Amino acid sequence: MKLKIAKLPGDGIGPEVVEQAVKAVNAVCTRFGHEAEYVFGYVGACAIDRFGDAYPAETHALCMESDAVLFGAVGDPKYDNDPTSKVRPEQGLLAIRKQLGLYANLRPVETFKSLVDKSPLKTELVDGADFLCIRELTGGMYFGEKGRKDGGNTAYDTCIYSRAEVERILELAFEYALRRRRHLTVVDKANVLESSRLWRQVAREMEPRYPDVTVDYMFVDNAAMQLIRCPKFFDVLVTENTFGDILTDETSCISGSMGLLASASVGEHTSLFEPIHGSYPQAAGKNIANPVAAILSAAMMFEYAFGLMEEGKAIRRAVAASLEAGIVTEDLGGTCTTSEVGDWIASNI
Ligand code: IPM
Ligand code: MN
Repeated sequence: MKLKIAKLPGDGIGPEVVEQAVKAVNAVCTRFGHEAEYVFGYVGACAIDRFGDAYPAETHALCMESDAVLFGAVGDPKYDNDPTSKVRPEQGLLAIRKQLGLYANLRPVETFKSLVDKSPLKTELVDGADFLCIRELTGGMYFGEKGRKDGGNTAYDTCIYSRAEVERILELAFEYALRRRRHLTVVDKANVLESSRLWRQVAREMEPRYPDVTVDYMFVDNAAMQLIRCPKFFDVLVTENTFGDILTDETSCISGSMGLLASASVGEHTSLFEPIHGSYPQAAGKNIANPVAAILSAAMMFEYAFGLMEEGKAIRRAVAASLEAGIVTEDLGGTCTTSEVGDWIASNI
């Protein structure tokens, strides 16, 4: 198969980890007889520096004509402490999500036998936890009307959702639940928020269409507690944009390191594959960042964008072997560099 991949490494450790993901993709292509073609695009702070725009039109054009986007990270500390800054690297990520119509962000949480002791949670709580967080990605407070009034002294962000937006993400969540252990948890704040009440109403209406799926509803504050208290309860968790942002940072603790968690964003146009850890500027250029999340994002790319399940598995097997062999970066207590881990995994594919 010919795979046209838009490579958007972005900022911070993005380029280093995406390079390791590319090694894994190339190894898979050699082994299974595929041909990968990469096109490079600027996004985030590096795009602002060059074009004054965090997601330039050129980058969007090449994403649209590719089969998948391999994304690194965006962000630069020089923008973090300047609330007056008109352009921000994160706008690049929000723009790509909106313009590619990536309304669903899939963040699987899995544990690796060899790493259960790395989790800050008790081994017996996390061992065997395996669930999928589905975060709505193009609505809610992130994209609702926002602004200032009273001469700048009052600020607001609006959490807004249409029925159509809620329906399409819930449909996807029901479908994933059917393919997994048929248990769906809808997380909201329906005791307080009107937008949550719409989510719950729509979910209740959809339930009869999926008689094989057991659905439960959980308030987000309680969900934040249950994810830590009893992660094995969950199979598929679906929630709105902001709640999903917060809860998936929390769930990264379950696997032991944020450097392990991959994600796929899917929707109307080209799907995007991205580690969830962000740009980690303190580590940029040091060859110490954990490339596993980016490499597992490449596995998700084979599975979700190309339907090549064996290829995805080959990456997963090599990653699991690297963790078992202790070929790991310092966040997991190892001594290997980013590129050593990448090389080892690629050669074991
Ligand atoms: C994430 C990130 C982004 C978000 C930031 C970088 C805009 O935290 O992908 O979870 O808030 O969605
Ligand atoms: Mn986040």
